[in-house]
Amino acid sequence: MKIGVFDSGIGGITVLHDAVKMLPNEDYIYYADTMNVPYGTKPKEEVKKYIFYAIDFIVSQGVKAIVVACNTATSVAIEELRNRYSIPIIGMEPAVKPAVEKNKNADKRILVTATELTLKQDKLQNLIAKLDNEHIVDLLSLQELVRFAEKFDFSEETVLPYLKERLSNFDLSNYGTVVLGCTHFTFFKDMIQKLLPEDVDIIDGNMGTVNNLRRILEEMNLLNEGNGSIDFYNSGVRVEDQEKLRQYKDLLKQLD
Ligand code: SIN
Repeated sequence: MKIGVFDSGIGGITVLHDAVKMLPNEDYIYYADTMNVPYGTKPKEEVKKYIFYAIDFIVSQGVKAIVVACNTATSVAIEELRNRYSIPIIGMEPAVKPAVEKNKNADKRILVTATELTLKQDKLQNLIAKLDNEHIVDLLSLQELVRFAEKFDFSEETVLPYLKERLSNFDLSNYGTVVLGCTHFTFFKDMIQKLLPEDVDIIDGNMGTVNNLRRILEEMNLLNEGNGSIDFYNSGVRVEDQEKLRQYKDLLKQLD
């Protein structure tokens, strides 16, 4: 049986990439909700409707587990999804925990970046409240990166001015770590790094999620020897267009 990987758009391809590296013999369905992206600017209830539609569709394809490779979807719906389905549903978690562990005794701050909707959710607020006893975590929306990514616009000319403007209110020399709390942002990691002092690191939650996927499949004896195939879907429709498929495959290669 296949593994479903779901995102509002192309951000989850960064997680799919890491999953394929770790579990190369599994077969995957990648579902991008291209009709409704971005999620991060929309009301929670509307986004939940899109998520349930997508996950119902993926489940109907007969998958053995689903990775919600979208921080926004995870933060608004993961508990309800887990209650609704009997297969494992693995979500994303912004890597606040490793960031706090690294910086708490180093007198450095942490910048957690995410979409507008993720930043408003109790899930992230509670995670920070639980871990950030020393109040070293600051929050920043980088919502526009989702739009750039969905246009496949990764040019410095477009993106750097936006990033510079968003970071201009922070004295970056005070920071030790930037956390990427949206899978779309991973495409811009190198560009963000260029704007940070050399000793600031950038972390995302991708590996944590993929490790969870492997552990759960192992525990449930669900690892199998597939062909490493990937079927792409856009909002419930199988992608057959060769140009679109080439774009997705190029993105996977670009992440190597
Ligand atoms: C978005 O659709 O706004 C981004 C979703 C995400 O990866 O958090």
